[in-house]
Order: sequence, then structure tokens, then C-alpha cells
Amino acid sequence: MTEDAPLIEAAGLHTYYGASHILHGIDLSIAAGESVSLLGRNGMGKTTTIRSILGLTPPRQGTVRIRGRDMTGAEPHRIAQMGLGLVPEGRGIFPNLSVRENLVMAARPAVDGVETWTLPRICDLFPPLAERLDNMGNQLSGGEQQMLSVGRALMTNPDVLILDEATEGLAPLIRRDIWAVIRRIKDAGIATLVVDKDLDTLLDVCDRCVILAKGQVAWAGTAADLRTNPDIHRRYLGV
Ligand SMILES: Nc1ncnc2c1ncn2[C@@H]1O[C@H](COP(=O)(O)OP(=O)(O)O)[C@@H](O)[C@H]1O
Ligand SMILES: [Mg+2]
Repeated sequence: MTEDAPLIEAAGLHTYYGASHILHGIDLSIAAGESVSLLGRNGMGKTTTIRSILGLTPPRQGTVRIRGRDMTGAEPHRIAQMGLGLVPEGRGIFPNLSVRENLVMAARPAVDGVETWTLPRICDLFPPLAERLDNMGNQLSGGEQQMLSVGRALMTNPDVLILDEATEGLAPLIRRDIWAVIRRIKDAGIATLVVDKDLDTLLDVCDRCVILAKGQVAWAGTAADLRTNPDIHRRYLGV
């Protein structure tokens, strides 16, 4: 491991589902503590990029380095153990386990051995979960499930938290709560890679933006640059 290497450095990723060639040479890097948003219309390859980095759908070409170490083709659990936490599209909680069991099962110390995020800390962060520790995952509302999904990822004490459409399908007030937590995570010094449809809030929270179109990086720059560039919005993000 190299101290000054980016946390995540993906270079030239080509990823397929069977014969379908989805990613065509994606480059993406995230430094410690940095907040990056991955943007683009539906079906452009955002989730596939995340799956490629995490080894869930390994790239056929290109490299994934974590803290400078080549992890291309490694088992997903080995990649995650290097400090990557995922809040997957569709939540991915265990419906037949209680809230407490969902959280405790995910627990592990950070790469440096520190356990910042514990059950009491998650309960502080999400008061509604604290009241439902003995409820089953499938007895929760959509918002509570999403809180549990974020809580589970935090219990792994990640150095980078990857959020794939974490506010999708939630009521505006719950969405606001989730964004408040994402801000707190960022302020705690954890790097974030965020995919979300709420562009205004994303630009407010994230430092840097990477826009995908048809499995390629169509534009990359700072959130400030993107905010003042309506042309880019129209071309790559407008509906
Ligand atoms: N499991 C799969 N099998 C085959 N094609 C898939 C699969 N998952 C996604 N795709 C296709 O890959 C492309 C990129 O999808 P995805 O990465 O999910 O996009 P995004 O997250 O940007 O909406 C889309 O054309 C989608 O239809
Ligand atoms: Mg997606």
C-alpha cells in the first residue's frame, strides 16, 4: 500500500454482461476524504462502474487499484475489506433478520483497526432505527430500510462509502434526512462516491463530478464548473 496513492483508482475499465460490452474504458479515481458524484442518464453505466470497482462484475480489461494495490479480479469481499462500503441500488438488507442483526452482522473494524461506527453510533445517527432494533428488515418503511442500508455500510467502518441511488423512491422529508447523513459522513472525513437523481443537492454536497454516457466518461470537472455549465446539463443529464 502507498500512503499518497488514491483510495480508488480505476483505469481503462471495459466491462461486459455476457456478450454486451457496457463499459468502454472508464477512468475514475477518488482521493482520501474526497466526495465524487457519478452522473449520467439511466443505463449509461453508473452501477456497472461501481460493480466493476467492487469486483462484483469484474472488468475484462483495465485495472482497479485500491490504495495503490492492484486488486483487479480479486474477490469482492477482499476488495471491500480494503475499506470500501456499498449502499447498493435496491438496498440489499436482510428481510428476515432484525435491524440489530442486520447491523451487527456487517460490523468490522476499519483498515487501520479503528472502530468508529458502532451500534450506538448508528442509533444516534438514525433515531428511527434505534426504536426498531428488534423489528425484522421487512417490517420497516422504505425510508427506514434505506437508513438500515446506510447503517450497515457504515458498520464496516469504510474509508469510502459508495451510495448508488440511496434516496431513490423516498418521500422528500426522508430524502432530506438521508442527505443530512451523507453530509455528516463527508464531514467525518470519509470519502464518498454518490449516484443520485437530485442534481442540485449532489452539486451542493460533492467536490467533483464524472458524467458517463454510453459507458464512457463524457465530462469530468468540479461541481462548481458543472453548476455554471447549462450546456453540459442539457447534453448529458437533461431528460
Ligand atoms: N445484469 C445485466 N445484464 C445485461 N445487461 C445489463 C445488466 N445490468 C445492466 N445492464 C445494461 O448495462 C447498461 C448499463 O446499466 P447500468 O450500469 O445499470 O446503468 P445506470 O446505473 O447508469 O443506470 C444498460 O444498458 C443496462 O441495460
Ligand atoms: Mg444504476
